Amino acid sequence: MHNLDQIIQAATSAFAATDDHAALEQVKAAYLGKSGQITGLLKGLAQLPTDERKTAGAAINRAKEAVESALEERREAIRRKTLARKLAAEALDVTLPGRGQARGGLHPVTRTLERIEALFRSIGFEVADGPEIESDFQNFTALNTPEDHPARSMHDTFYLLDERGEVAPGVLLRTHTSPIQVRYMQAHVARHAGQARMPEIRVIAPGRVYRVDSDATHSPMFHQVEGLWIGENVSFADLKGVIADFLRRFFENDDLRVRFRPSFFPFTEPSAEIDVAFMSGPLEGRWLEIAGCGMVHPNVLRHVAIDPENYIGFAFGMGPDRLTMLRYGVNDLRLFYDGDLRFLRQFI
Ligand code: PHE
Repeated sequence: MHNLDQIIQAATSAFAATDDHAALEQVKAAYLGKSGQITGLLKGLAQLPTDERKTAGAAINRAKEAVESALEERREAIRRKTLARKLAAEALDVTLPGRGQARGGLHPVTRTLERIEALFRSIGFEVADGPEIESDFQNFTALNTPEDHPARSMHDTFYLLDERGEVAPGVLLRTHTSPIQVRYMQAHVARHAGQARMPEIRVIAPGRVYRVDSDATHSPMFHQVEGLWIGENVSFADLKGVIADFLRRFFENDDLRVRFRPSFFPFTEPSAEIDVAFMSGPLEGRWLEIAGCGMVHPNVLRHVAIDPENYIGFAFGMGPDRLTMLRYGVNDLRLFYDGDLRFLRQFI
């Protein structure tokens, strides 16, 4: 049947013109679908006289099989092509150089904090912690700085807002690590309540602190390490020994000088600033301030129920950011907090 051969040919080339499964199924419908050409011919059989129906039916079925196998062939070809395309797109060139693993490292200030902790642990200090959001009481009042005391303005304090956007009374970002002194002493007193003699307190407390301040040597967030040693007979001479020894070990340099310059803090009496000077190197002979310190004020001890007649000791608060700048020769504090990898990678 001439017509049937034409249909087979037309179908085969229409299939060949498609490039994906969706298009192929569209074309298939035109021949084998409900109203497709082959289906139409099969439906037309009913109109034929009985004697012709058999041969015509057989011919149409052969044509149908031919179209179906052309369709199947094309399906397979498209499947192979799609796979080949996908493989090409996802090709992996194993000869390319590898990307490598980026090496992480500790932040220079973290290194300093770890070093400070290790050095103080080696002389029997514990390491304590405290909250960064503090109460006005712990940050100031318990440290002998009552409300309206002029010493409060020594710190430019960040206050917190409540849900209505108003300053929440008595809640602030700690301006120093000294409130940890208070918390630690309170816990220590509670732990040893009822004992005839309270064991010594020997603790350091590293942490972030906050002040409204920003320039090359001040950042609104910076670090401090608080130190506290309270016992029955702890003197200013012990303070000097501990600090001088710490600085020599921290800088791995015996050729440095330490100076205690009289100063004022409400929570120590007498108070001093600690300066260090290197006797060689680029900073030779320059006095650099690195900490505040003093003998803990009797009022601070009274606040935490320690009897200042029986116990005495010293406290200090030093700036590990400053120590990091000196140790690595960095001249701008802000570099530590910019997150610039070109700077930070130098310390890995
Ligand atoms: N808290 C003081 C400050 O931030 C430092 C200090 C700590 C001074 C302990 C004396 C004793 O300035």
